[in-house]
Amino acid sequence: MKIFVAGGAGYIGSGCTEFLLNNGYEVTVFDSLITGHRDAVDKRSEFIEGDLADRKLVRTVIKNGDFDGIMHFAAFSLVGESMTNPGKYFMNNNAHALNLLDAAVENNIKSFVFSSTAATFGVPEKMPITEDAQQHPINPYGESKLIFEKMLSWYNKIYGLKYTALRYFNAAGATEKFGEDHSPETHLIPLILQVPLGRRKSIKIFGDDYDTPDGTCLRDYIHILDLAQAHMLALDAPRSGHYNLGCGNGYSVKEIIEVARKVTGHPIPAEVEAKRSGDPAELIADSTLAKKELLWSPKYENVEDIISSAWEWFKKNPDGYSK
Ligand SMILES: NC(=O)c1ccc[n+]([C@@H]2O[C@H](COP(=O)([O-])OP(=O)(O)OC[C@H]3O[C@@H](n4cnc5c(N)ncnc54)[C@H](O)[C@@H]3O)[C@@H](O)[C@H]2O)c1
Repeated sequence: MKIFVAGGAGYIGSGCTEFLLNNGYEVTVFDSLITGHRDAVDKRSEFIEGDLADRKLVRTVIKNGDFDGIMHFAAFSLVGESMTNPGKYFMNNNAHALNLLDAAVENNIKSFVFSSTAATFGVPEKMPITEDAQQHPINPYGESKLIFEKMLSWYNKIYGLKYTALRYFNAAGATEKFGEDHSPETHLIPLILQVPLGRRKSIKIFGDDYDTPDGTCLRDYIHILDLAQAHMLALDAPRSGHYNLGCGNGYSVKEIIEVARKVTGHPIPAEVEAKRSGDPAELIADSTLAKKELLWSPKYENVEDIISSAWEWFKKNPDGYSK
């Protein structure tokens, strides 16, 4: 089978591309490299440097490629930036992504797999979060992802496009080849690991008086290889649908720092700062549905394994892909 991976030079898309190739798929990576890296493109894949904004190029590549499926990772995903520049998010994550959706329909693509996010839920009322929880995003990033979920649903109703929207919780970890290199970096695990790498002096904890056991926020971390497995299974999903992907365990910021200290053997000093607005106290996935319908079985349920894999990658690539 031949898969078109939009955003395959990014963090999750590169790991997913590697996983697909290891499982016998052919892959074409399409990426503008706006936040991705040429060195993150698996050498066994075909690479096309292009932007989803280029409607003609997207339609031509999909028409000529004879693809069995499309995976769409290509989006902007900085929550804070989306609060100051919402148009950038709606333009890329919705308007430009529409070109890919239209090309999928024009070419009868059998399966469209979309990177959605826990951010579509906003501040949920119940934990863990099931697929039918109300979706009230609290930032334009989450809203843009929810809008794209709705676009998929309408294209399914009107054109019969089969799709799977995978709502990841906190993607983390690395493969042997590919890891996390965002600029700016906003994710907790790589920020923590920058301390033992000598790239920052300490890690900031935003708020320690949440209503959680140790007062810091709880998040659900999911390894990128487990996300990749879900993407591969989604290609053969029995129906169109939405699935939450997490381990189902909430780890506090303090717990993650403690595990990172154990993994790296570094004291990793931490400083408590004021809470950030819009940070829910906990976000934990109920992934029962993905396990039942996609037969998804995550392999990295222990957060120490997740952090260790990231640490191994950072030791080999302390400055990410740039050096
Ligand atoms: N990282 C997480 O924890 C997380 C959690 C939930 C959902 N997601 C979603 O997963 C996807 C991948 O996230 P990531 O962390 O790998 O991000 P990333 O920025 O590392 O990767 C995105 C890739 O898409 C490319 N891209 C962006 N816009 C493009 C366009 N218009 N045309 C062509 N290429 C374009 C970028 O160059 C980059 O290589 C995103 O859609 C994100 O919203 C990520």
